[in-house]
Amino acid sequence: MKPGLRKVVFPVAGLGTRFLPATKVVPKELLPIVDRPLIQWAVDEAVAAGADTLVFVINRNKRAIADHFDVAYELEDTLVRREKHDLLRVAREVLPEGVETVYVVQQQALGLGHAVLCARSVVGDADFGVILPDDFIFDRQTPALAQMAKVHAQVGGAVVAVEPVDPQWTSRYGIIDGEDAGDELIRVSAIVEKPAPEDAPSNLGVVGRYVLPARIFDLLAATEPGAGGEIQLTDAIAALLAEQPVHGYRFSGKRFDCGNKLGFVEATVAMAMEDPATADALRESLPEIIGSA
Ligand code: G1P
Repeated sequence: MKPGLRKVVFPVAGLGTRFLPATKVVPKELLPIVDRPLIQWAVDEAVAAGADTLVFVINRNKRAIADHFDVAYELEDTLVRREKHDLLRVAREVLPEGVETVYVVQQQALGLGHAVLCARSVVGDADFGVILPDDFIFDRQTPALAQMAKVHAQVGGAVVAVEPVDPQWTSRYGIIDGEDAGDELIRVSAIVEKPAPEDAPSNLGVVGRYVLPARIFDLLAATEPGAGGEIQLTDAIAALLAEQPVHGYRFSGKRFDCGNKLGFVEATVAMAMEDPATADALRESLPEIIGSA
């Protein structure tokens, strides 16, 4: 059997209103960071963690995501005839061989927990990963979910990615409490969704990477609407705490919040600096652009 996490869920049914008008027709997840759509970065990360089944939780406005991962026959045929082998490879590598995509429709926007629950029949009873593509994480060595899959193989239960957040913004995150367990791990004793700063048990915020046992589905099915009137994944993880170990993991790498404009632009600049096609010229032009603003 292949090591790592075989199934990864991508909850991508959100409206993306912060990026209007760009997201009026184009799903937010297809906006590019340099030349790869946000969802492509997320898929590459899942595949690096061992995934061979990608489960996208979409709605009827997100069908273009399925088109992106489909074979583009006309394009490939043209590239073959023009002998553009490099471009052909780029087009084909969108979905590596042996990796399957499954699309599940979330018919009502009832929250992240509900979106994950929609993937239940595809995931079955295996441990699985969740990536929220808005949280773009870049690490030159090992992508974040692969780091977590490795940790999960050692500690079992659930593993959630965490990082210190500005204490004034705890109400934007799931926040954990717990004890240091060494090796960047925190044994979680409590997890709360979007607490006000005065109620937050710490400043360790959950960012969009999870490794979860299938048991979470039973707990999600029994979860009542919580913060914001939505069925929260955080609340089901809080229920899981009574049964299985839950660890927070301080991943290595830089995270960009691509759910907002600033994070998206910063991620774009950071990735353009990683790209030999743009890095040198950008190093020269960026100070000038910033200086004249
Ligand atoms: C979701 C989760 C939250 C987590 C965050 C990470 O919130 O509910 O616990 O901290 O993702 O990005 P959202 O950003 O969807 O409101």
